[in-house]
Amino acid sequence: MRRIDLRSDTVAKPTEAMLDAMRNAELGDEGREGDPTVRRLEALAAEITGKEAALFVVSGTMGNTIALMASARQRGTVLLHEQAHILRSELGALSTLAGLFHRPIAGDRGAMDLDFLRAAIRPSLTSNELPTVVIAMENTHNGAGGTVLSPGHMAAVHDLAGEVGIPVHTDGARLFNAAVALGVPAREVARHSDTISFCLSKGLSAPVGSVIVGSAEVIARAKGYRKMMGGTLRQAGGLAAAGIVALTEGVDRLAEDHANARRLAKGLHAIDPSLANPTSVESNIVMVDLSRTGRVAADWAEKLNDRGLWTAGNPSQIMRLVTHREVTAEDIDQAIKVFATVWDEFMAPV
Ligand SMILES: Cc1ncc(COP(=O)(O)O)c(C=O)c1O
Repeated sequence: MRRIDLRSDTVAKPTEAMLDAMRNAELGDEGREGDPTVRRLEALAAEITGKEAALFVVSGTMGNTIALMASARQRGTVLLHEQAHILRSELGALSTLAGLFHRPIAGDRGAMDLDFLRAAIRPSLTSNELPTVVIAMENTHNGAGGTVLSPGHMAAVHDLAGEVGIPVHTDGARLFNAAVALGVPAREVARHSDTISFCLSKGLSAPVGSVIVGSAEVIARAKGYRKMMGGTLRQAGGLAAAGIVALTEGVDRLAEDHANARRLAKGLHAIDPSLANPTSVESNIVMVDLSRTGRVAADWAEKLNDRGLWTAGNPSQIMRLVTHREVTAEDIDQAIKVFATVWDEFMAPV
């Protein structure tokens, strides 16, 4: 039985073109003279995002942590959405590694409420409060279900921060999904942020790696922090080579993942409208509401997994499904059938 894996886009394996590029990559010592393939990836990333410089790092978590360390010029508070990945899923790296405090800002569909944000900004250290040292956005927004921040919202946050000279970082783990969903080049999303970290290892299918982009000055500092965090990989060109293929061949096809996510949401909605709202799907993530069945995602995952549909269980009644390069439209139709079977099972009168 072919297993359909909707747990995350991180599960997508490298393409043949990536494996070829990895084998043939020109290598050097990243901690000494530098690795030429890493340099090529960084130059490409900087160009695509319209920034001065870029730095290859191991993961999205490392990218966010290092970007915050390099952006914050003093100890203080990072303002970010209450459901930000940095807050919910990065194990407190913000405080334990970067030495920063945080203040969550409420907001709708991943976008911080601008009035709350404005009210939370502290331009300088006082006897009562820490200064705001970074404002962080997330685009697409994972916790909110792959929602896309509009360029208008990003610009408003950037302007607000600019008024008081505070740098803006964006967790762009799925930056290219945002760009494809908006129908704009990635640099249009990146322009409203001083630093952005994006992942090569999610929808873009590379096996490992993320990139931080920003000004030459901030990236030079980030390079030092990467070393401090043990992130200076020696012949990393093999990994960077896959990243170059990801950026050159992997971006446009993300539209297929978005179409498949909408197809999935429509199919689930047809089983029962409570399960998913197709109009709320903006990229490659579908949030499924299982509450009508009275079961939690872990109960559902067990049944789905037994029938060849691999999903991630959790103790809540919301299940996140993510489409990616290894999931076809036929797989989506099969996934919908499996959902319908389990729905009937859970809803059957006892
Ligand atoms: C929005 C967002 N930011 C950051 C990360 C962290 O990436 P990594 O798993 O490479 O550390 C993820 C991972 O899922 C994510 O969804």
